[in-house]
Amino acid sequence: MSVVLDVQNLSIDYQDNGHPLHAVVDVSFQVQKGRSLGLVGESGCGKTTTMLSLMRLLPAEGRIVGGAIRYHDTDLLQLSEKAMQQYRWKHLAIVFQGAMNALNPVRTVGDQIAEALQKDKHIDRRKARIRIGELMEMVGIAPERAAQYPHQFSGGMRQRAMIAMALACEPDVLIADEPTTALDVMIQAQILELLKHLQEQLGLSVILVTHDLGVVAEVCDDVLVMYGGKTAEYGSVDTIFNEPVHPYTRRLLEAFPDVDRAGSVLTSIPGHPPPLDALPLGCRFEPRCPIRSDLCAKASPMLTEQQPDHFAACHHPEIQL
Ligand SMILES: Nc1ncnc2c1ncn2[C@@H]1O[C@H](COP(=O)(O)OP(=O)(O)OP(=O)(O)O)[C@@H](O)[C@H]1O
Ligand SMILES: [Mg+2]
Repeated sequence: MSVVLDVQNLSIDYQDNGHPLHAVVDVSFQVQKGRSLGLVGESGCGKTTTMLSLMRLLPAEGRIVGGAIRYHDTDLLQLSEKAMQQYRWKHLAIVFQGAMNALNPVRTVGDQIAEALQKDKHIDRRKARIRIGELMEMVGIAPERAAQYPHQFSGGMRQRAMIAMALACEPDVLIADEPTTALDVMIQAQILELLKHLQEQLGLSVILVTHDLGVVAEVCDDVLVMYGGKTAEYGSVDTIFNEPVHPYTRRLLEAFPDVDRAGSVLTSIPGHPPPLDALPLGCRFEPRCPIRSDLCAKASPMLTEQQPDHFAACHHPEIQL
């Protein structure tokens, strides 16, 4: 198996009136060729921040303060902005969270895909038209619909169009940030099916961001569970589902017990993740943790390898709930 993307000890701050907020701390993961990584956690745990940093598209107040993002052997964080443009969209592409609701209402879907094509290089009209048709077919939209406007597309079709745009410059890593949120369950399943199909057919590596472990179970090979900007647990889907160690992962699994309920809203974990300006001193999950001890309130647990390729950050991995 070959590693396409190797993220090591990534840390990201947001500046808030001169004070740094530590949104992402020391996060590491790898994405293999043709495989898919699920990035899971509740709202505010740093998923989108992490994904935007891979594209080097953080907002102005966001700053990568440590770590490396290696695409094959190139650390993207060492590149000039100009050099980064050879990677952004062409090697790594993203379907932004909520983007399907931000399509331009007064331009046809075909025009908007054409614009995505021009990120690579200028191509003439005839070639562009052929390529737009190919991209639409690839994501399961009839090419004739290129002349239609976003309001003539259903939610699922708009999300397919967003995926076509992300694929325009033939990336090998596709990041999909909550691609199924706000779609109804049947349509969600179709979008996940499409991502799986593209992964297999194009040899794409996919990073799928979601709140929902049920979604991960359907499509992903590996899972990174984030909590409060840190890695709670990281391993293969089999390991995370069958031998979860972190109490947060276990709670997430209880919240989504049934994979057929993919997409349901997470409601059953009492409490909320900590705000960035009031982080607990010790483990960030401690205030909500059913197995917390004095140690947990005092010291942040290190991420440690529980078994080969299975990592968790918990002081009490031996305690089963
Ligand atoms: N531009 C910003 N300035 C300051 N803080 C920010 C900014 N963007 C995000 N944050 C904070 O960073 C943390 C992580 O946010 P992020 O959007 O990455 O979370 P997320 O896991 O993607 O959440 P969701 O599931 O709601 O999309 C949150 O506490 C959020 O409030
Ligand atoms: Mg997000």
